Amino acid sequence: MAFKGLFIGIDRYASPLITNLSCSVRDAQALYGLFSDTFGMTDARLLSDGTATKTAIIEAIQSLQQSQVEDVVVIAFSGHGSDSHHLISHDADPLTLDKTAVSLDEMTDLFKRIPTKNLLLLLDCCFAGGAGAKVFHAPIAAKRAASAEQSPQQISGNGRLIFTAATADQEAIEDRRRGHGLFTFYVLEGLRGAPEVVRDARIPVLSLVEFVTRSVTSAAHQIRHRQEPALRGSTEGEFALPILAVGSIFRQFFPEHRLLSAGPEVTSLGAFGFPQGILDIWSGSIPSLNELQLDAINVAGLFDAQHLVVSAPTSSGKTMIGELAALYRFTRGERTYMLLPLRALVNDKFDEFSAKYADFGIRVIRSTGEIADDNDALLKAKFDIALLTYERFAALAIASPHVLSQVGLVVVDEVQMITDNHRGANLEFILTLLKSQRLVGIEPQLITLSAVIGETNGFESWLNARLLKSDTRPVPLDEGIVDLNGTFRYISAEGKEASVGRYVAPEFRKGTSQDIVIPLVRQLVAAGEKVIVFRETKPIVRATAAYLSDNLGLPRANETLELLPDADPSVASAQLRACLERGVAFHNADLDREERQAIETTFRDSESALKVLVATTTLAMGVNTPAWSVVIAGLEHPDSPYSVAEYKNMVGRAGRLGFTPKGKSFLIAPSPADAYRLWEKYVRGKPESLVSRFADQEPLSLVCRVLATASASRTNGLTERELIDFIRSTFGAHQTGELIPETTIGSTLRRLVDAGLAEPLDQRFRLTELGRIAGELGIQVESVVRVARALRGLSPSELSTEVFLAATQMTVELDDVIFPVHKKSVQERQRWQGAIQSRSLPMSILRELRATDDATYTARCKRLSAVLMWLDGTELNRIEASLLRHLPGDNAAGPIRASAERTRDLIGVVARIGTLATSTGSALTDSLDGIIMRLELGIPADLLWLATELKRGVERGDYLSLKHAGLVSADAIDAADETVLASVVHSVVKRKRIRDAVEQSRNVTIVGDDSLPMPPPTI
Ligand SMILES: Nc1ncnc2c1ncn2[C@@H]1O[C@H](COP(=O)(O)OP(=O)(O)OP(=O)(O)O)[C@@H](O)[C@H]1O
Ligand SMILES: [Mg+2]
Repeated sequence: MAFKGLFIGIDRYASPLITNLSCSVRDAQALYGLFSDTFGMTDARLLSDGTATKTAIIEAIQSLQQSQVEDVVVIAFSGHGSDSHHLISHDADPLTLDKTAVSLDEMTDLFKRIPTKNLLLLLDCCFAGGAGAKVFHAPIAAKRAASAEQSPQQISGNGRLIFTAATADQEAIEDRRRGHGLFTFYVLEGLRGAPEVVRDARIPVLSLVEFVTRSVTSAAHQIRHRQEPALRGSTEGEFALPILAVGSIFRQFFPEHRLLSAGPEVTSLGAFGFPQGILDIWSGSIPSLNELQLDAINVAGLFDAQHLVVSAPTSSGKTMIGELAALYRFTRGERTYMLLPLRALVNDKFDEFSAKYADFGIRVIRSTGEIADDNDALLKAKFDIALLTYERFAALAIASPHVLSQVGLVVVDEVQMITDNHRGANLEFILTLLKSQRLVGIEPQLITLSAVIGETNGFESWLNARLLKSDTRPVPLDEGIVDLNGTFRYISAEGKEASVGRYVAPEFRKGTSQDIVIPLVRQLVAAGEKVIVFRETKPIVRATAAYLSDNLGLPRANETLELLPDADPSVASAQLRACLERGVAFHNADLDREERQAIETTFRDSESALKVLVATTTLAMGVNTPAWSVVIAGLEHPDSPYSVAEYKNMVGRAGRLGFTPKGKSFLIAPSPADAYRLWEKYVRGKPESLVSRFADQEPLSLVCRVLATASASRTNGLTERELIDFIRSTFGAHQTGELIPETTIGSTLRRLVDAGLAEPLDQRFRLTELGRIAGELGIQVESVVRVARALRGLSPSELSTEVFLAATQMTVELDDVIFPVHKKSVQERQRWQGAIQSRSLPMSILRELRATDDATYTARCKRLSAVLMWLDGTELNRIEASLLRHLPGDNAAGPIRASAERTRDLIGVVARIGTLATSTGSALTDSLDGIIMRLELGIPADLLWLATELKRGVERGDYLSLKHAGLVSADAIDAADETVLASVVHSVVKRKRIRDAVEQSRNVTIVGDDSLPMPPPTI
């Protein structure tokens, strides 16, 4: 078998009547180069521009008639086709096309005489279409009856495939950014071994066809164009090509093309231009690049600006792929946005990147909506890597879309969140927005990283990205179920099913999972392992930690205890300490940031005494805390069972590279029936596929957000059609066709107009100021309406900060913060409703707070009270005691902090609505900054001056200790000697920070916030 190829590309035409093209010669050169480098150039011919005359083309095809039956023949043509069904040669004369161009009929005859059984004709031209397409309109219409559909049909036949760039009635277009015809671009991608195409290191032509068809259709769709490649003919047996390699001939045409590839050694990355110092850092933290990372670079085009979707198990080095790409961009003088779903993850990465890269002049900043944000640098593009939460990025990209052109790369981590009921729609909105910017030529590279998922449901084609999917775990895993008899049934790391009777000897106590969990964890720890036990709710997590610490007899977790903050403890803090005294930690939302960090760091440290960690699932996402083994007891959220993906993520924490040859995961089955069900559903289960949640959003808020994208880019709003087009370009619509009925969109627009959030303007709809507040900041329309109603008519003097704090509580967003309320208790209701009613709030505020069911009203009153006490400096455990007076539990630190956090996120919005609703100026913005800072830290007004200097690094407990010691002014702190200060703030580092801040404060004038009356809370 031999290979023969003919590659024709024409951009320049002799006749002035024919428009020149831009990319056709490059198409032919690239194919010619690749085939020649792979098979040798004697068997391939290139005809371009002046050499691609009719005579030369016909002679070249005739010479192929010498081929043997077994040979593989590939012919590619890129240039104009005509609506009279001619391939337009360089010397074609439009008035005599029959004589001067190559008709498809002639091609049919010529082809019949090529004897091979494996012939592929690639036609990147079209025979129909308008301006801009690769079609030439013949002045004399075709006389032949054969349609453009039939002619290719005739050429094709068994073993003769003809693959055209578009169907008969569509235009084939050039992609000038990539320098190729859209069709040829993907043909080249496929031939060079795109992962979706390769089977057993070869390229079956049919899988190439499938890949090109899918990719071209989707890429065309992105720019609102229809182009669907079409195949005719059939093959018998295998018609496959080897993966084509770039070599010297290809490079003669494309000298800029990358020669490089990475090897496993980190040092091999030096060739890509990474500074030695950065390579040294990486070499210090990882032994070598793993297969996933190498594939990302060498196969998927990580450093070639390819859009990527990477899906791989926990701890397989995905985030590191984003990091590599960001650093690569840095070496090219480009910036990166890295988006993460949680503040904790942003902060974690910020600390890590700052420590690693600051010495190389890499400016790392973050924006999460907190004090530590560097928004000025963000807006002015004074950064190299900006770490943002999804929500911050959405607000930024809508309000200032120009920021998208500031970066060369956007990394979206944990993109499986698109399936999340609560936050998936927002993430999809962000990605749709990024995609929509491509229409105006702004197209940063997009790398999305996902935990294991089932089917992608077209996610990668929606993003026009390559998919890199791996199931290989970095550390192999024995994954199984332990029943109440102690039998461990599992699927071994090698994929075999096995079962070990009496793996654990149950300890009969209560007939619950405890009977297994205790001896199992004891056994694992005795074998020198570190274990994470996942449980479903915060109270169960605490209770499990308590019984494990009571029963295991482990030594004190010294390192962890040393790192814990000691001031302003919550009830959970005390419980945590008690557990740590006996070697067990727990990790849930009742703990504060410092406490959680202390646990994460010391658990990660293989030398530390902390061996057992009981946690809720929040620990399973992104935070790097590998364990040797994982025990899971309970797979029910309060409202629904865990998804398989969530389970797999928890399991993924088992196994620690470099410490354990394999990890083990144990799912506890409380009954034989459960053992069967859990085995089928989870252990053998496949993670859920990616599905869109876009249409689950409340339609008013959805439409408002889409309209906001237009007001921000300063156009005059959107037509209904443009709005529908945006919604049609979402992943949801890509998956399901029509996502939201057009009639719903029409009626929603009218409801927005009625509510005063949008206004019609000719054929367009534009947001009003009020509408922009909802749209740009992504807050619910219903919230804006409620707050506007409550504030309207108030006089400026009534607009106190307390009024804003109260108004914030009536939003949908605050109603969504889960808060403990005893719904049946009359005392509970009277106590909290009474506490708020007695504060002299305006009637309209009280009315709106009350405009709901009784339990929700009580919850609003409790949240407001909690926030007021948080700001007043009341000790956390006393606030908890007060809030839980009529309830059974004793922990409320999580809900208290969550209420303060959410209030902080929204109070600025509420103040903006206040300014609009009462037509006052922005008199409150100064004190607003102060209240926002106080809400984040939970400190009284008299310490605001210090917080303004410190930003973060000193926590609520420290501030309150200062206050109790009477150290609230700069003078008082200065006057306190080190022993006195040390007795108040125990940490040396924090004391230094405070001293520096005091020093600093003497150089600036601070405006304090005293606008908030803070009567003592009612306890
Ligand atoms: N090639 C490698 N060899 C060894 N360790 C690595 C390698 N790449 C990354 N790591 C380390 O493995 C850990 C997990 O990496 P990373 O956070 O990138 O994984 P991930 O796939 O994003 O995990 P998650 O699912 O938790 O988000 C980190 O400590 C990282 O430094
Ligand atoms: Mg990660």
